[in-house]
Amino acid sequence: MKDLLTISALGEAGITEILELTDHFVEVNRRAIPKVPALRGKTVVSLFYEDSTRTRLSFETAAKRLGADTMTFSVATSSVKKGESIRDTVQTIDAFGVDCFVVRHKSSGVPHQIAGWTDASVVNGGDGWHAHPTQALLDAYTLRTHLGSLRGRHIAIVGDIKHSRVARSDIECFTALGATVTLVAPPTLLPPSLEGWPVQVSHDLDAVLPTVDVCALLRIQLERMTDGLIPSLREYTEFFGLTVRRAALLRPGALITHPGPMNRGVEIAPEVADASNAVITEQVANGVAVRMAVLFLLLGQPSQLPPLSEGPE
Ligand code: CP
Repeated sequence: MKDLLTISALGEAGITEILELTDHFVEVNRRAIPKVPALRGKTVVSLFYEDSTRTRLSFETAAKRLGADTMTFSVATSSVKKGESIRDTVQTIDAFGVDCFVVRHKSSGVPHQIAGWTDASVVNGGDGWHAHPTQALLDAYTLRTHLGSLRGRHIAIVGDIKHSRVARSDIECFTALGATVTLVAPPTLLPPSLEGWPVQVSHDLDAVLPTVDVCALLRIQLERMTDGLIPSLREYTEFFGLTVRRAALLRPGALITHPGPMNRGVEIAPEVADASNAVITEQVANGVAVRMAVLFLLLGQPSQLPPLSEGPE
């Protein structure tokens, strides 16, 4: 595999391969010195045209823990500000001799385009409303650590589905692993057509919560809303926010996830975000190991895979 652009390109077997590889890197990350030389001599570039904390820093941490060199590209301080095109930017960085671009862009399809311009690997770090495959992989990994398997589980994805690349990738990933997915949102925050989406839809969060194993919340993406799709944030919270009252409707053992960054007090109450069944910090921690697995799969040699039982270096 040269690139990781979507979950659908992986299928169940590819997803499972990455989740199983991740176990090896979780173990590496528990060591006193969480580093292995598996990608020594490789160079990974973060090419982020959109803001990020978790995805960019966890990919850079992942690359460093695998012994790779990293380069960070910041739009604000680059020649993009002088009008340089994406293609010229990619070809310029490519000429340095790099092995992998991790790309985030506000337009859907940009990582796919870049993959056609370079022999280096390309990982989609989030493109427009389209896809965020490594977020879905880390979400699935986190859920599997608690639930064992997603087969037969019921997962509600709640909130701004319309603008969410996380929702699209999560749906592909969770259903590929055998889960049932219910989308819960006001009609204005759903895509105009859900034809072909393997999901159920509800507008009644109170009714859905007692039936789920996981409540996966999404961020209200105010920066992508141009049409006044919700009357007010207060009204959104009243009907679709995971308040303390609503969180009490979940069954014992049901998990709460959020990809971050959170709007505390909007889609999730602060007390709920900090509750013991909210696995939001675990998602972030697992993000490093999942991204180590992805980089290893794309750039590494099977003989360099750290064994599961290996002790401190
Ligand atoms: N979840 C996620 O993609 O977060 P960042 O925007 O901080 O990378």
